[in-house]
Amino acid sequence: MEKLLEIKDLHVEVENKEILKGLSLTINRGEIHAIMGPNGSGKSTLANTLMGHPNYVVTKGEIIFKGQDILELSPDERAALGLFLAFQYPHEIPGVTLFNFLRTAVNSIQKKRTGEDIEKDRKKAASSILQFSKKLNEYMKLLGIDESFSKRYVNEGFSGGEKKRAEILQLAMLKPDLAILDETDSGLDIDALKTVSDGVNKIVTPEQSILVITHYQRLLDYIKPHFVHVLVNGKLVMSDGPELALTLEEKGYDWVRDQVDTTIIN
Ligand SMILES: Nc1ncnc2c1ncn2[C@@H]1O[C@H](COP(=O)(O)OP(=O)(O)O)[C@@H](O)[C@H]1O
Ligand SMILES: [Mg+2]
Repeated sequence: MEKLLEIKDLHVEVENKEILKGLSLTINRGEIHAIMGPNGSGKSTLANTLMGHPNYVVTKGEIIFKGQDILELSPDERAALGLFLAFQYPHEIPGVTLFNFLRTAVNSIQKKRTGEDIEKDRKKAASSILQFSKKLNEYMKLLGIDESFSKRYVNEGFSGGEKKRAEILQLAMLKPDLAILDETDSGLDIDALKTVSDGVNKIVTPEQSILVITHYQRLLDYIKPHFVHVLVNGKLVMSDGPELALTLEEKGYDWVRDQVDTTIIN
């Protein structure tokens, strides 16, 4: 099995406060992993650190992706290598259509991967835009998204469900090796949840891996993980199969704290 991501003894500080305190995790190609944990345990910190957000300072440990140490890579370079973080662009981008946004994203990744700037060659640019439109339309059809959607400005007036659809489209077009889905603690309503999970299930292939980060068990009813890990106070304190999510739902995070040696958690 190919090791896709290896996180070794990761320590991360945000504004001089240590948030991740020695986290290790290996994800093989094709595996779906879920990280669950109470609010403030460091879930989003992990997602942001993996993507290379500048506010998150790695003080110790390693992140190896596709055999390469990625700590020195910029977020763009990480994306080009095949990492994807949903919620990467949660802001409105007035004047930029979803179509153009996705196209720019795909092109810039292509350019980084191949070293070739397709926009510089008129013929190639024309044929590539045709291919792009065709693919985008196919995916929108598959995901039950109306064609007019790609002509709207990114996130402007998007409902929660529509923002999720835009993300899933991004995931479909960029085809990352590892998709990190951070489902913020506010949680999604049931429709948005269905949108994400149906979309993910339709487009993700067995060669792709997913890291789902969630406070709630319910998302995992739809995106079925192979492994579930529990993050408490910056450390993974439990790992098991999918049934762990159900146990957590039933017994809560206090049960986890009771199970684990307090010297590990504090
Ligand atoms: N950008 C930031 N600035 C200051 N503190 C932060 C920042 N991001 C996270 N933190 C702190 O790190 C801790 C973990 O936060 P976070 O990773 O968002 O947890 P989770 O996603 O598990 O709820 C919290 O105490 C939070 O206040
Ligand atoms: Mg979070």
